[in-house]
Amino acid sequence: MKLSVLGLGYVGCVSAACFAKRGHEVVGADVSPVKVDIINAGKSPIVEPGIDALIAEAVSDGKLRATTDAAEAVMQTDVSLVCVGTPGQHNGSLDLTYVKRVCQQIGAAIEKKPTRHVVAMRSTMLPGTIQEVVIPTLQVYSGKTAGKDFGVVINPEFLREGTSLYDFDHPPFTLIGADDEETAETVKRLYAHIDAPLYVTRVKEAEMVKYACNAFHAAKIVFANLPTTCTIRASDVQERRDSDGEMLPPTICPVGLGSSAMIACAVTDLPDPDSPTNASVSPCATSKLTRSSARTTPAEVENSTARSRTDSSGTLTGTGVA
Ligand SMILES: NC(=O)c1ccc[n+]([C@@H]2O[C@H](COP(=O)([O-])OP(=O)(O)OC[C@H]3O[C@@H](n4cnc5c(N)ncnc54)[C@H](O)[C@@H]3O)[C@@H](O)[C@H]2O)c1
Repeated sequence: MKLSVLGLGYVGCVSAACFAKRGHEVVGADVSPVKVDIINAGKSPIVEPGIDALIAEAVSDGKLRATTDAAEAVMQTDVSLVCVGTPGQHNGSLDLTYVKRVCQQIGAAIEKKPTRHVVAMRSTMLPGTIQEVVIPTLQVYSGKTAGKDFGVVINPEFLREGTSLYDFDHPPFTLIGADDEETAETVKRLYAHIDAPLYVTRVKEAEMVKYACNAFHAAKIVFANLPTTCTIRASDVQERRDSDGEMLPPTICPVGLGSSAMIACAVTDLPDPDSPTNASVSPCATSKLTRSSARTTPAEVENSTARSRTDSSGTLTGTGVA
C-alpha cells in the first residue's frame, strides 16, 4: 500500500520505518526540513534502539522518503497516518494547532485527488475530537464528505519509547475506530501481519478506549512511583488514627501528568497527629509533605512542586498522557 506519514517525530518515525520494513511504500512529511533531510540521508531524527538501521535500509530500498510538502505526500498515497504532536497546555487541555493545520493541508490535497483517500489519526486526542475538529476541517478544505468521498479512522498508537520497534510488532491489541466499513477494511490490511487481537469499533468508542488506556497507565504509574517519591514508614501510618482510634487513610495527590506519561505523585497533607480531624484532600502541601514524611528530602519536595499541575483548589488539571 502507499502510505503517507504526516509528522516525523517519535510516533511518525517508528510508524514510517516499520511499515516500510513490511514492504509498504512510505512518504514521510514534516514541517522540519532538518528532519526531512536526516531521513532522506538514511538516518533517524529520533533516538531509539534499532531505528537507524531500519531507516537506512528502507531508504536505500526505495521504500521510504521524506518531504516537507504534506500535500504532495497525500496526493501520491492511499492512506495518510497523522502523527503530529498534541502537547498538553498549562490548563490541562490539548493543543490541537498542529492537528488542525495538518487537516487543512490534507483536506486541500483531497480536494484535488481523484481517488478515495483514507485519513488515519494516530495522534492522541480527547474523545469527540474527530467529530468536532478533524472531520469538519477536512470537509471544509476538501469540499467533500467524510464517509462517502474519503475515509477517516482513529488508529491510536500504544508504543513505549525505548522499546517502540518491538511494541510496533507486538502491540497489546490493534484498535481501529471507523464509521464506515470500507475505510475500516483498508486500515485493517495494514495490520494483517501482526499477531494480536484487532478490534474495530466506531470512532467515538475507539477514542474513548485510547483515553481510558492512558488513564489506566497513568494510575498505575502513580502507584508505582509512590514508594520512590515519598516513602512513608509503617510507623508513620500507624500513628495516624482519629480520635476513636480508627486508622485514617493517607490522602494521595497526583501532582503531574505529562505527555510522555511521566507522573510524579506525593502523599500529602497527612493529618497532623495532634489534629486528626484536619485530614483533607488539599493542594499539594509540600511543607506538610516534608513534615509528614521523615524520608522526603528537600530536593524531592522541590521536584514534586516543579512538576505540579494542580489548580489553586488542588484539583488535578494535567490530562495529557501520550
Ligand atoms: N511518543 C510517544 O510515546 C507516544 C505514544 C503514543 C501516542 N503518542 C501521541 O502521538 C502524537 C505524536 O507524538 P510524538 O511523540 O511523535 O510527537 P513529536 O512532537 O515527537 O512529533 C510531532 C511531529 O509533527 C511535526 N508536525 C507538526 N505539524 C506538522 C504538519 N502540519 N505537517 C507535518 N508535520 C508536522 C513536528 O515537526 C514533529 O516532528 C501525539 O499526539 C502523542 O500524544 C505519542
